Amino acid sequence: MENKRGSWGSDFGFLMAAVGSAIGLGNLWGFPYKMGSNGGFAFLVVYCVLVIVVGFALVLGELALGRKTGFGAVGAYKAMCKKHRWIGLMGVAAGFIILAFYFVLGGMVLRYVAGYFVNILGGDGFVGQGTGFFGYLLYDINSIILYSIIFIVISCAIVMGGIKGGIEKFSKVAMPALAVFLIIVIIYVASQKNAGAGYRFMFKPDWTYFRENFFTVLKTAAGQMLFSLSLGMGCMMTYGSYLPKNAHLQRNATIIPIADTAAALLAGCAVLPAVAAFAGENYGSGPGLLFHTMLQVFGNMNGVMGDLMGFLFFLLIFLAAVTSSISQMEVCNASIIDRRIEKKKAPRRPAITIFFALSAFIIGIPCAMDAMGSGGAAIKAPFEFLGLTAGSPGYQMWNSSWLNLYEFISEGILMPLGALIMSLLIGWVYKTRTVRRECEASGQRFKAGVFFSLCYKIIVPIIIGIVLCTQIIDLII
Ligand code: PHE
Repeated sequence: MENKRGSWGSDFGFLMAAVGSAIGLGNLWGFPYKMGSNGGFAFLVVYCVLVIVVGFALVLGELALGRKTGFGAVGAYKAMCKKHRWIGLMGVAAGFIILAFYFVLGGMVLRYVAGYFVNILGGDGFVGQGTGFFGYLLYDINSIILYSIIFIVISCAIVMGGIKGGIEKFSKVAMPALAVFLIIVIIYVASQKNAGAGYRFMFKPDWTYFRENFFTVLKTAAGQMLFSLSLGMGCMMTYGSYLPKNAHLQRNATIIPIADTAAALLAGCAVLPAVAAFAGENYGSGPGLLFHTMLQVFGNMNGVMGDLMGFLFFLLIFLAAVTSSISQMEVCNASIIDRRIEKKKAPRRPAITIFFALSAFIIGIPCAMDAMGSGGAAIKAPFEFLGLTAGSPGYQMWNSSWLNLYEFISEGILMPLGALIMSLLIGWVYKTRTVRRECEASGQRFKAGVFFSLCYKIIVPIIIGIVLCTQIIDLII
């Protein structure tokens, strides 16, 4: 049975895959713009505190439940208690919705990669016209769909290769490459005039925005943290289920959040100083930040050099996006493969992968067609369906575009809910000793037991509980 499900070839391979799942568009695209619109430094502090008191415990909890049961999200909860299966299903639903919009974003990134590549070859890749390109691309539905399909095919090919031969193999190359590319871009940005203002925005204590918008900052940072660490929907659980019994769980559960937070910070150090240098310190421009600001950065460099850097940068984002999308696919896949193996049927990984990819693609199409709510698009954004206009009283973040709606359902509701329930279950029902025993099963001592127990029982439920309440209040008002 073990062989049919697959397993990691090495601890390093697992780490690259898990860190690869964590580091994705959430870090490179989401983190800089959310930090930019939520008070800079204060957001960073809240985010780091959340990683420490919520992130570590949840990553460890997921890895432990996954490895203990040897199943993905649905099977793991079912193995813990038959009645808890629905929590795993909720996770699969979240993964599926994320996958749907991830495909579209991944496709857009790929369009940039292709554009710069054509420029390097001396053609006109049509990415060179400064900030205008993003606005143009939003309405170029054919391109978005075409590149999304290419992105999906690549992701499918990797996932079909299985755990060791596909996911692990790809992540082991992609993640180190990503680190190198990111550092090159950061060094370049640092050498630009006025980049210093960007670092000040990130690191100089300023609590004004935070004081006036406490709940919004907390809610955004918590949602971002869960999303960035791929938590609350059984992703780490699924990856944990492919770990051998001798893997050091606590060490891995420490490395993953640290690496992910470092990547978010590095992404901030690439994008925000670039905003200072090239976009008049307009940090709060929202989801388009990465797409138009970085274009300006590379547009300002001389000829081929700019194209080369642009190519590298978007290629790195693409790699990060692929290593994340394959993990979302795997959460969905495992829910069926586990069941089939249990019933002594052949796993049929390729067919299942295609089934999920195709359905997620279809669900994701509206995200490719509403020009992110910019108006005048091929289909209406959710707020227009509701008869609202941008800026009218009922207009909210969650209905401003299909992408935001999907993000709201997954990152805003399902992931926090999944995280809250898992934490309560570990703290009060399965008990922290379940996690402890699983960690000790590999012969290591379980460290910081009191801290983890406190996290599962009290800290995580309170924080995530507040976040969920704020979210629901925002939905109603
Ligand atoms: N963590 C990924 C990112 O930061 C997104 C993701 C969410 C991946 C959920 C897997 C599961 O982009």
